[in-house]
Amino acid sequence: MNIKESIDRTKLPQHIAIIMDGNGRWAKGLGKMRVFGHKNGVSAVREVLEGAIEIGIPYLTLYAFSSENWNRPKLEVKALMELLISSLHKELPTFQKNGVKLKAIGQLDHLPIKIQKTLSETIEATKNNTKCTLTLALSYGSRSEIIDATKNIATKVAEGTLKIEDITEDIFAQNLYTTGTPDPDLMIRTSGEQRISNYLLWQLAYTELWFSSKMWPEFDRNDLFQAIYDYQSRERRFGKTSEQL
Ligand code: FPP
Repeated sequence: MNIKESIDRTKLPQHIAIIMDGNGRWAKGLGKMRVFGHKNGVSAVREVLEGAIEIGIPYLTLYAFSSENWNRPKLEVKALMELLISSLHKELPTFQKNGVKLKAIGQLDHLPIKIQKTLSETIEATKNNTKCTLTLALSYGSRSEIIDATKNIATKVAEGTLKIEDITEDIFAQNLYTTGTPDPDLMIRTSGEQRISNYLLWQLAYTELWFSSKMWPEFDRNDLFQAIYDYQSRERRFGKTSEQL
């Protein structure tokens, strides 16, 4: 069966969020350093982004570095940051060619200045692209995001620009880092782990979850197509009964 041809193009998930897990274990399995896994992880990012564009997914969000990842060995953190800078520089022409608009979410001010600079330059350079919005979650933790949103809202209430009774789910969502991006329809995690790990807790409320036992560097566009195909056979009821849909 050609999995790509079996996908119903009229029912594509609009937003796919991914936890790219297993780089370290994949490298260890080959007797290599963890950084070797991250380097090959970048190739998987390219592969999946191309697959998403090929099939027409408008939003892709990747968990590239969590707030907890700062606790990893210094050398690994440094290597990840360098990989990020070099990848952004290298991929910019491809982003432009493929209409990719880059965004970043997380506590971006915690990132090294060099990365902040490369990120904002790439975001600025790609801001008019419309085919696919690629959001990188960097120094990202969902609980901090929710606290930051709460602080924003509390400030508006204290200043008198927002009334307590006017706080709704929509208002709350507008104060999250992801404002302007629809909630994910599908969330993929690789490496056999089945956890959310502080990723998009608010936004994943009604998202379909799909897990792969493949390590992230082994994940390719056909795996993405398989996930989309499986997603299409699920019934999303949003709390309603089948008959009400
Ligand atoms: C998880 O594997 C992966 C990460 C913490 C980093 C993901 C980063 C990349 C794929 C490269 C940079 C990204 C971009 C967008 C250019 P792990 O190290 O937790 O693996 P393990 O669970 O086997 O230890």
